[in-house]
Amino acid sequence: MKVIDDIAGIRSYVSAIKARGETIGLVPTMGYLHDGHLNLMRMARKLSDHVVISIFVNPTQFGPNEDLDRYPRDFERDMMLASSVGVECIFHPRPEEIYPDGYATYISVEGLSNVLCGVSRPTHFRGVATVVAKLFNIVEPDIAVFGEKDYQQLVIIKRMVDDLNMKVKVVSHPIVREKDGLAMSSRNRYLSAQERKRATVLNRALKRAEQMFRQGERDVYRIKNILTDMIMQEHGCNIDYIEVVDANSLSRLQTIERRAVVALAVKIGKARLIDNIILDPT
Ligand code: PAJ
Repeated sequence: MKVIDDIAGIRSYVSAIKARGETIGLVPTMGYLHDGHLNLMRMARKLSDHVVISIFVNPTQFGPNEDLDRYPRDFERDMMLASSVGVECIFHPRPEEIYPDGYATYISVEGLSNVLCGVSRPTHFRGVATVVAKLFNIVEPDIAVFGEKDYQQLVIIKRMVDDLNMKVKVVSHPIVREKDGLAMSSRNRYLSAQERKRATVLNRALKRAEQMFRQGERDVYRIKNILTDMIMQEHGCNIDYIEVVDANSLSRLQTIERRAVVALAVKIGKARLIDNIILDPT
């Protein structure tokens, strides 16, 4: 497996693959890999000849009081895990390589970026869209795999790709969970043992929403109330938001008549965790 840290290097690596007529699957990550990430890589492996991943803790998607400095990193371990699922190349640039002095261009996907997580993280998706667009330009992948855990991010990237006529095909992978239902996340590491147990309430609440929906409930207000109660009863959980939105436009719904997403963000100790579930009436 190759590790490349500069743009010129990855460009020539990619040209050689393309010259052989082979396809490239890209999985962008911020590292500290877990089984969620690895499943995305396995999917990329199935869908393309060659898997490239990026490991880059992207500074522009962190707000001023967020966890950029303490975001977990373990590159040696990431290399082992990536190579164990057949990744051929890791692009691992330094921040100056991606954002050199004088850097001035940002991509803003309007409307979709200022709801849900965008309310408490107003510059987050601008940073995500910008770095992902740069990675697409640098690696020129045929496909790119993203997880449904970051549902809003997925919708924003698909919108950007359509709006800017990018050639890459965006593919999504379902949420990968721990045995007790907690969605895997590099940020779960911030949880103490007690908080880790409490964190299972996120998935329990979403499953309750799904159960209500299956039993015929379509009223968003009633679903949100039950979820809010369940999470508030768990000590130390601070709700950032619980929303039920249209799965494509991310606009708020009052009744579920088309494909919807129940999305939530909850702070537990030092961690801000997100999770979601899709409800499809069709
Ligand atoms: P990161 O949080 O490292 O996630 C990288 C990819 O893994 C994203 O597509 C994310 O949705 C997916 N992922 C993470 N946990 C998952 C889980 N439990 N199940 C399924 N997929 C999961 O998302 C980012 O990095 C960054 O914003 C990035 C896109 C790399 C841009 O900097």
